[in-house]
Amino acid sequence: FSSRLVLGIETSCDDTGAAVMDETGLILAESLHSQKDVHLKTGGIIPMVAQRLHKENIARVVHEVLDKSGIGPRELSAVATTVKPGLALSLGVGLEYSLNFIQQHKTPFIPIHHMEAHALTVRLIQPLPFPFLVLLISGGHCFLAVARDIDDFLLLGQTLDEAPGDTLDKIARRLCLAKHPKCAMLSGGQAIELLAQEGDRLKFHFKSPMGQHYDCNFSFAGVRNQVAQSINKTEEAEGIQQGEILSCANDIAAAIQHTIASHIAKRTHRAILFCKAKGLLPQSNPCLVVSGGVASNTYFRKALKIVTDATNLSLLCPPPKLCTDNGVMIAWNGVEKLREGRGIMSYNDEVRYEPK
Ligand code: KG4
Ligand code: ZN
Repeated sequence: FSSRLVLGIETSCDDTGAAVMDETGLILAESLHSQKDVHLKTGGIIPMVAQRLHKENIARVVHEVLDKSGIGPRELSAVATTVKPGLALSLGVGLEYSLNFIQQHKTPFIPIHHMEAHALTVRLIQPLPFPFLVLLISGGHCFLAVARDIDDFLLLGQTLDEAPGDTLDKIARRLCLAKHPKCAMLSGGQAIELLAQEGDRLKFHFKSPMGQHYDCNFSFAGVRNQVAQSINKTEEAEGIQQGEILSCANDIAAAIQHTIASHIAKRTHRAILFCKAKGLLPQSNPCLVVSGGVASNTYFRKALKIVTDATNLSLLCPPPKLCTDNGVMIAWNGVEKLREGRGIMSYNDEVRYEPK
């Protein structure tokens, strides 16, 4: 290979991912082990379980991409690994594995910021110049930022409590959607999107959060409490036990989906207006990139499209497979840093990391 090669490793949450990529962004091999099934059964991620599963899978996942790409460890120009932010126990597995690997093979190391990798994944799909606006919405993340360079991000807003995917997952659990015949094996967000299609959102009203907050932050915990109260009341009125599926679950799903979508769209609209006022986006073809597991929701995308159409921005959504956690986005971030010669460490350097 004339092109330099990067091995990317991701273990920040519940996915063990790896990929080998060349300097042009060509994926030579990728592998992903998801722990979602296990965590779905326990009703959430237990960090020690996630750590154990990462430990059980990391070597296999990395060997798989090296074998598939036919690349020997000594042919790599760098190992790029997520060092923050994420679950400390999960991050630790990828980092420890990577440090052993680079010391054994004397490979340079590129520490990767998980959010920055999410934000820049779009550039693997198309040559999008800086700056652009990014909205990341998933089970663990929720922020708005201006990506100004590969290592320069202006954070405009973030969630003050929980991420929207987490809220949808918790509401789906409270609605017992895992038992719903149409929702088997779906994530909470997917189940709510599916049921919402048959629901009437006007049958329930949930107050949109942060109407009086003149910034670009988000909040979802209050909506979740309102939903919980409505569910309690409805169960009481209908004489239904907790644990049974409500006949109006689809109406609740439609209302909650609408409330969350409109909150996200309003905060994004504020961010766009702020960027325009401050000249933070280019005059010609300014873009909003939306990524994260929740971004695969069609209703949310439509709400965001209304906002970008009204403000003359282009809306870009990377394919769902690249929106969720994976090794490819980490390798790509490594490639971008390698090309620019930024953030590269020797295998001898002491690597520090904080989970946050
Ligand atoms: O990015 P992701 O796979 O993992 C992390 O959170 O890091 O996102 C998973 C989240 C879950 O909370 C899931 O409920 C949500 O994304 N999600 C959705 C949809 N598909 C997945 N939320 C709303 N609508 C969907 N179609
Ligand atoms: Zn992520």
